Amino acid sequence: MRELTTIAELRVVLDGERRAGRQVGLVPTMGFLHAGHASLMQGAAAECALVVSTIFVNPLQFGPGEDLESYPRDLDGDRATAVAAGVDILFVPPLAEMYPEPMATSVSVSGVSAGMEGASRPTHFDGVATVVAKLFNLAGPCRAYFGEKDFQQLAVVRRMVRDLSFPVEIVGCPTVREPDGLAMSSRNAYLDVDQRVAAPVLHRALRLGADLIEAGAADPDTVREAMRALVGAEPLARLDYVEVADPDRLDALSTFDHHRGRSVRLLAAARFGTPRLLDNVGVVVPVGE
Ligand code: PAJ
Repeated sequence: MRELTTIAELRVVLDGERRAGRQVGLVPTMGFLHAGHASLMQGAAAECALVVSTIFVNPLQFGPGEDLESYPRDLDGDRATAVAAGVDILFVPPLAEMYPEPMATSVSVSGVSAGMEGASRPTHFDGVATVVAKLFNLAGPCRAYFGEKDFQQLAVVRRMVRDLSFPVEIVGCPTVREPDGLAMSSRNAYLDVDQRVAAPVLHRALRLGADLIEAGAADPDTVREAMRALVGAEPLARLDYVEVADPDRLDALSTFDHHRGRSVRLLAAARFGTPRLLDNVGVVVPVGE
């Protein structure tokens, strides 16, 4: 595995690979890699001749008072994880390489960015879209792998690629979970022992919502109410939102009528002490009589 830190080197190497006819697979991350990140890298390695992963903790997507300074880091561990997962090039740019001067340009994707994470973290998705647009411009034509774990982020990136015609094919990858259902996340490292025991309630609530829908729940509000009650019964959880949404537009559904026989997405976020965790699952609404 080669490690690169400058934009100029990355461009030269990837242009050369493409000229040689090799498909480039891109896996953007903020590091502190776990099995979820590794699954994206393995997916890229299975489909692309050359896998590039980036590690950059992007200040633009952290709001004031969020965990930018304390975001967990472990570059040595990340190198080992990336090599084992089949990464050929690890791009680890210093802050001054990515943002040599304060950014005057921002990419903002309206609609899909508005609710849920966007409502709780108003500048977050502009920061994500801006850095992902920049990484796409650095990498050039490629397939880019993103986790369904951050489902709204995946929708924002897909929409940005469509709207701005990036020569990038987005590949969504399933969420990797701990044996008790907790979605793997770099932020799980912040949980204390009791919070760690409580945290799978988020996934249990989503599973309950999916079961209710499969059993023919009358409307989305019934499902939201049941998910809210389950998370509410866990004293260590402070619920931020539960949602039943269209899987592409991510707007909140008021009825299942237009989604019969189609997939909807259940999404939730909650704090366990300071750490804020999110999760989501997909479920197909039965056609009914
Ligand atoms: P980060 O949180 O490091 O996640 C990098 C990628 O790994 C994202 O596409 C995320 O959805 C995926 N991922 C995280 N946990 C996962 C899990 N349990 N299963 C499957 N995939 C998982 O998301 C970001 O970084 C940043 O916002 C970024 C896109 C890099 C822009 O800065």
